[in-house]
Amino acid sequence: MSEPVVYVDGRFVECSRAAVSIEDRGYQFGDGVYEVARVYDGRPFKMREHLDRLARSARAIRMDLRGLDSLERDALELLHLNGWGNRDLYIQATRGACPRSHCFPRDLEPVVVMTAREAHPYPPALRRQGVAAITLSDDRWARCYIKSISLLSNVLAKQKARDEGAFEAIYIRDGFMSEGSSTNVFIVEGDSLVTPPLTNYILPGITRATVIGLATGCGIPVAEESVSRERLLVADEVFLTGTTTEVMPVVTVDGVRIGCGAPGRTALRLFEQYMRLVTG
Ligand code: PDD
Repeated sequence: MSEPVVYVDGRFVECSRAAVSIEDRGYQFGDGVYEVARVYDGRPFKMREHLDRLARSARAIRMDLRGLDSLERDALELLHLNGWGNRDLYIQATRGACPRSHCFPRDLEPVVVMTAREAHPYPPALRRQGVAAITLSDDRWARCYIKSISLLSNVLAKQKARDEGAFEAIYIRDGFMSEGSSTNVFIVEGDSLVTPPLTNYILPGITRATVIGLATGCGIPVAEESVSRERLLVADEVFLTGTTTEVMPVVTVDGVRIGCGAPGRTALRLFEQYMRLVTG
């Protein structure tokens, strides 16, 4: 099988030949931002939204990332070179390479790398069964709306979840849930959805916005309000949203059964609608 082609700073190369400077600030400081977009049957889903969020993240860290249209063209070319299909498109922009010093030179050119790995969707059985989540204290910085490549807390949180046999770790800040380590979180109470409001403490998820739109479209009320850990544990349903996670029902949180311990009707309905949208 031929090697995947990746994109490095304006060039398309085989993955094993790709190289970036060890003085890249992404490598030395985690000084960069990223996006993950899903491609379904050759069609990138919500590509514009992802590029717009990348631009917002870049602005928020004072990175001068220009040429989003040409970046989109390069992303499409990368997908073409990798044979389209179902892919996770990863786009990373770091501040660039220079001798290590915390302050950044103003004229540094950002370095963009992209990969288009084959997507590995979760097995349908997992969604039918639902997943476990744990909660843990949100020890991240206060600018979680920036999709920063500095993901140490998220990496450790997800690993803790996996080590405890769970799928996701849900962050709790001051007694209220913020989001998962790589997902947004919804609860269902009666017929209504509740999800934390967009503050600096969560990523404005593109799947979150899509699911809110789908729910509203089918007459399900959606409230954006704070949810305490206690309220999370007694919800009728809990589910996660994210580009690669799509809509994933949660059936236990910290070992406590949610609802009747099986994926809820609302989560499954929204998952179906979501799949219809992405493949439509
Ligand atoms: N993660 N919250 C966090 C902390 C995330 O990292 C993500 C996405 C989300 C969901 O956002 P969206 O619906 O736009 O994908 C929420 C990506 C997929 C990742 O890091 O792999």
